[in-house]
Amino acid sequence: MKKKKTQVCIIGSGPAGLLLSQLLHNEGISSIVIDRQSREHIEARVRAGVLEWGSVEALDEAGIGARMHKEGIPHAGFELAFNGDRHRIDIKGHTGKDVMIYGQTELTVDLIARRLEQAGEIVFSASDVVPLDVKSPSPKVRYCANGENYEIECDHIAGCDGFHGVSKSAIPDDVLKTFERVYPFGWLGLLVDKPPVSEELIYANHERGFALSSMRSKTRSRYYIQCSLNDKVEDWSDQRFWDEFSLRMGPQIAADLQTGDSFEKSIAPLRSFVAEPMRYGNLYLAGDAAHIVPPTGAKGLNLAIADVRVLSRAFVEHYKRNNDAYLDRYSEICLKRVWKVERFSWFMSMMLHHFPNMSAFEKRMQRAEFDHIVGSETASRSVAENYVGLPLEI
Ligand code: FAD
Ligand code: PHB
Repeated sequence: MKKKKTQVCIIGSGPAGLLLSQLLHNEGISSIVIDRQSREHIEARVRAGVLEWGSVEALDEAGIGARMHKEGIPHAGFELAFNGDRHRIDIKGHTGKDVMIYGQTELTVDLIARRLEQAGEIVFSASDVVPLDVKSPSPKVRYCANGENYEIECDHIAGCDGFHGVSKSAIPDDVLKTFERVYPFGWLGLLVDKPPVSEELIYANHERGFALSSMRSKTRSRYYIQCSLNDKVEDWSDQRFWDEFSLRMGPQIAADLQTGDSFEKSIAPLRSFVAEPMRYGNLYLAGDAAHIVPPTGAKGLNLAIADVRVLSRAFVEHYKRNNDAYLDRYSEICLKRVWKVERFSWFMSMMLHHFPNMSAFEKRMQRAEFDHIVGSETASRSVAENYVGLPLEI
């Protein structure tokens, strides 16, 4: 067994793990990042696309915002649509801030490049990754790479390994509490190199199901439709997707839609999930390892960024000022905000999707929710405040 040593061992090389590693490096704190996937796989994954104001600030503070500012697109608003009726949420007007359209894929590419430029250690394609002795003052992470077994001794382990990772399982069953809602549908998303149908995002509720118009750039669109969990990507030819998307968006939007051959198509299930606590001994969970939100509020990536902002601050206090108050309160600080973001993502999901066996009453409730937002500046402001990102109390 080969041995290594670092201050913080980070399991998972998604946005949470990579950004944490960068923030720690900027403060002179060492880390090693370990991921079970290859660099190519990680850099090709298509996921989220909207960064909250606070996430943009965090990436700037970390010193990795240059390409995001050059290629990303600030958005001052987005639209809600209900069976053809449209309402713009004026994010900028209500909050004075924008969100930024910049793909998680690009952000991950930027973070990996910067870590490697600075001689940061990222172990890709590791197998059998296991956190050990997490309650002791010197926890360890074991893994296998290129046929060799390794053990990293560290002070702290950051579990940034997503929903299907191993970190959470190091917390005993009688300590870990989980809260979950699985939604009875998925999202089918595609990428196409055609200009987006509208300059801003459109979230649409239609009797046939939800649809979302998003983008990655002025020439690349990301579109989604709600689909059945039994559907396979192969069931959806591009033509079938365009027909369904057009129907749900309504004739006004469909008239401007530029269709083409998609170059990526995938189905994602929708889930709300929270694990409590987010700290156990010297193990800290961050990002999707601790919580999942349905994508309807565009929050998953942003929550991951928020967690590691809190965690990096707590490690800085620990190493530089011998102050453990922030590490001790890490779980409490994060969870308070996590639950509010869970609420917003759940609210948006409940308002915008077609649920199997919905009663007439429930349908009227969805419409009343939309009409309330349209008719009330206060309700619109509340949506804008949540969408642009709730304050981070650190
Ligand atoms: P991840 O990005 O999941 O990173 C975790 C990393 O840990 C991965 O690189 C993984 O390979 C690694 N890992 C897992 N297990 C192990 C192990 N045992 N050992 C070592 N490494 C391990 N959010 C939105 O807002 N909009 C979207 O459209 C959207 N689409 C999504 C589509 C999919 C398929 C998924 C899974 C998520 C999507 N999300 C979306 C959510 C958003 O992408 C996540 O919230 C975000 O990636 C969280 O970042 P993270 O770093 O916490 O986790
Ligand atoms: C995306 O562009 O992938 C995207 C945008 C907004 C969402 C979810 C996904 O709410």
